[in-house]
Amino acid sequence: MTPPTDPDPHAPARADADASGAVDGLRDALGLLKDREQVAERLLASAAKHSFDPDTELDWDAPLEDGKWFWPPELVSLYGTPMWHRMSEEQRILLSRHEAAALASLGIWFEIILMQLLVRHIYDKAATSAHVRYALTEIEDECRHSKMFARLIARGDTPWYPVSRTHQNLGRLFKTVSTTPGSFTATLLGEEVLDWMQRLTFPDERVQPLVRGVTRIHVVEEARHVRYAREELRRQMVTAPRWSQEFTRVTSGEFARVFSVAFVNPEVYPNVGLDRREAVAQVRASGHRREVMQTGARRLTEFLDEIGVLRGVGRRLWRASGLVG
Ligand SMILES: [Fe+2]
Ligand SMILES: [Fe+2]
Repeated sequence: MTPPTDPDPHAPARADADASGAVDGLRDALGLLKDREQVAERLLASAAKHSFDPDTELDWDAPLEDGKWFWPPELVSLYGTPMWHRMSEEQRILLSRHEAAALASLGIWFEIILMQLLVRHIYDKAATSAHVRYALTEIEDECRHSKMFARLIARGDTPWYPVSRTHQNLGRLFKTVSTTPGSFTATLLGEEVLDWMQRLTFPDERVQPLVRGVTRIHVVEEARHVRYAREELRRQMVTAPRWSQEFTRVTSGEFARVFSVAFVNPEVYPNVGLDRREAVAQVRASGHRREVMQTGARRLTEFLDEIGVLRGVGRRLWRASGLVG
């Protein structure tokens, strides 16, 4: 598979002087809001060029390679803790295998929530618009990703790691009642931290080729999702009613808290022969882990700060999540 050029989701979209959409002329702290249709047209062009069918693109039958990791060791939850130092190399690799499966399961949970949010977002909008056509394209992407992650879990002979029943129910409520800006904030939270990790995973030669292939496809296709969500959220934080902006601050803070707890499923520890309670306590106390999570969230939290999501109660909840220092 030849690596496609990696579009940078964080570069600002070209600011066009002749924007002519519904937000024509509106400005926020970062300048003129991009015209929705122009952004969507560009993303549709990118999707036409850089979309992959994981079933044919990746070699699913290739044997797994002995001694290779399933996730970079530094990104494994227990890395650097006293427990980690007591573990054999084999057990560490086994933990990376289970954490990769747990993150793939979490990814599928996010994607299914996102698909529903996107369907709700476009429900009352003209299907002929580029904005809606792009949203439909993104739903297609997420369908392929969820199938790809599911196949990766099965290929690694690892279990399906659902989030806890409580989080499942919180997700059920959230995806039903969340307003549009709240939805896009949650989307970005789910996408950007995993994306940051995956950008470190796909070029890493210590990692299994299949995991590298899966993460590369995901990073490339996810770049446009991040762009779409950022542009839409920035627009929404200017145009949404004040109560909705405040609701976004609080729900996204609460989602950040849930996210930071649910990030690694604690079932992975007993499944590789470790004491669950002790492992969870060591991960919580790990300065390395805190730094990994904060670094992974930084580009997002800086952006959310700029557009006014990280204020008041919302900011306190983000602090409590440990994702903002
Ligand atoms: Fe995805
Ligand atoms: Fe996505």
